[in-house]
Amino acid sequence: MTPGIRPLIAGNWKMHGTLAEASRLAEGVKGGATGADLLVCPPFLHIPGVVSALRGSSVAVGGQDCHAAAKGAHTGDVSAAMLCDAGATHVILGHSERRADHGETDADVRAKAESALAAGLTPIVCVGETEDQRLAGEAEHVVEAQLAGSLPDGFAEAGGVVAYEPVWAIGTGRTPTEDDIAAIHGAMRRALVGRFGKPAEATRLLYGGSVKPGNAVAILALPHVDGALVGGASLVAADFLAIAQAAG
Ligand code: PGA
Repeated sequence: MTPGIRPLIAGNWKMHGTLAEASRLAEGVKGGATGADLLVCPPFLHIPGVVSALRGSSVAVGGQDCHAAAKGAHTGDVSAAMLCDAGATHVILGHSERRADHGETDADVRAKAESALAAGLTPIVCVGETEDQRLAGEAEHVVEAQLAGSLPDGFAEAGGVVAYEPVWAIGTGRTPTEDDIAAIHGAMRRALVGRFGKPAEATRLLYGGSVKPGNAVAILALPHVDGALVGGASLVAADFLAIAQAAG
């Protein structure tokens, strides 16, 4: 954690669940007030249902992507303004699954983050190395390059969030060592402060990739780890709340 930064625990529900299941999961995490901010990111279709299930609670709702344009002829896409209109406050951008499945580049992610900020959404921009890049000793360099390319000007000032998610740790049950996580988070803080100055001292830096109740306490205690982006474990309300509890 970073002194003075309130942690954020975000659930990435990916492409899972019926509307009924999403609503039940939302009900399950509703009471989970801790020292952390909580966010859940359902599939687009379920956002309105989850927003209404969470009404009156402090758990926020986000999207998992948005288009870079405010509107237009973009079949199958959803704009940042539409997410806002549906009650979302955040949007995950540049997740490695989108970079891999949809060929999203750093420039695409940057354009989407600009659009999210313009619509008043808080972007959560994901970065992270592949296993080959880590084995080649390039992890820090890869992450710094992704940050430089994916974050628009004004990102830190507007409260944008960064998530470090090593690709090889997502959904695999494997995580980097605590030292490796701390090293990347320290490097990210230095890079952000170098570019954005003082506001980046308060930028929330999340760790994501196989975060579970069993490892959350240790990971969240690391310097410059200001929360978690949780995939699989966020689909079980008790596990998500246990991770939130680990944040304070
Ligand atoms: P995981 O996914 O927790 O299932 O590893 C994390 C993510 O992809 O955001």
